[in-house]
Amino acid sequence: MTQLQQTYPDPLSVNEVPIQQHFNKGEVTESSTPREPNLRPRMKSDRPSKETDEIKDPAVRIQDLSVWYGSKQAVGNVSLDIARNQITALIGPSGCGKSTLLRCINRMNELISGVRIEGQIEIDGEPLYIDGVDPVEVRRVIGMVFQRPNPFAKSIYDNVAFGARINGYQGDMDELVRQSLEQAALWDEVKDDLKGSGLALSGGQQQRLCIARAIAVQPEVILMDEPCSALDPIATQRIEDLMQELATSYTIVIVTHNMQQAARVSNRTAFMLAQEDLVGRLVEYGQTEQLFTSPSNKRTEDYITGRFG
Ligand SMILES: Nc1ncnc2c1ncn2[C@@H]1O[C@H](COP(=O)(O)OP(=O)(O)OP(=O)(O)O)[C@@H](O)[C@H]1O
Ligand SMILES: [Mg+2]
Repeated sequence: MTQLQQTYPDPLSVNEVPIQQHFNKGEVTESSTPREPNLRPRMKSDRPSKETDEIKDPAVRIQDLSVWYGSKQAVGNVSLDIARNQITALIGPSGCGKSTLLRCINRMNELISGVRIEGQIEIDGEPLYIDGVDPVEVRRVIGMVFQRPNPFAKSIYDNVAFGARINGYQGDMDELVRQSLEQAALWDEVKDDLKGSGLALSGGQQQRLCIARAIAVQPEVILMDEPCSALDPIATQRIEDLMQELATSYTIVIVTHNMQQAARVSNRTAFMLAQEDLVGRLVEYGQTEQLFTSPSNKRTEDYITGRFG
């Protein structure tokens, strides 16, 4: 079974709505996506227009990045600018290097032995892959949320406070925990049980707790690797709504197999593919609406219309 098949049904795809319908003549109509007003996907007018597509002052700049695991190359020559305070989706078939690329953005890949990375990534114009850059500090500035919610076996409070304590946070910890849980849209559900175990929460609540934990160290970028694939449709929708709120303050990069999700939440989408040589490369990158409605590459079109992957 492919990972695509393993993912939970999409909350809005019960009628097998074609992906392009999210951009029905460029507008998301109420009839095609019946949602509460504050839950509806970003309308076309909220998306960057084609004229303004050039990414000025990107939050993250990936330059000619290649990654090997031992002698096997996983990612080849990817260059990608990621816009500040927007949501960028990485899509592509299993094994095309999406997670590998994502983990390079906060230097988590080098925790895997035998990894070799060439190229450069800049955050706010500062190169990450040079001597003297502390990978631990990089991972503070660039937080990560994983596929499976992974709260620590600690209280809700201690989960959120964990990173801040390690960093020697001197401010009001109670306030930081409250703010982080509020930002992660979890506060109302847990405020009376902050000493309760993080592991006792539902999957969707655990994922929001992990997001609160990531936010509490005040990152600039949040990387999310299939953050909803272990969640039910309702929990998925809450995380999607949350992502849209967080994007006003943070730059978000999300890997997803769910193209409806990429279409709903992201401003820009990057399509990766490992072709005959099995090296994952960037095939197409652009505004989400453009990529899903008029892809410029045949392979992109084949993928988003479900012909392979
Ligand atoms: N720790 C590792 N050691 C060796 N090879 C790895 C490792 N992690 C990934 N790879 C290989 O690198 C390639 C890209 O893997 P990656 O996990 O980045 O793909 P992906 O696009 O995230 O796939 P999926 O959608 O299944 O999560 C694959 O061929 C994979 O087997
Ligand atoms: Mg992956």
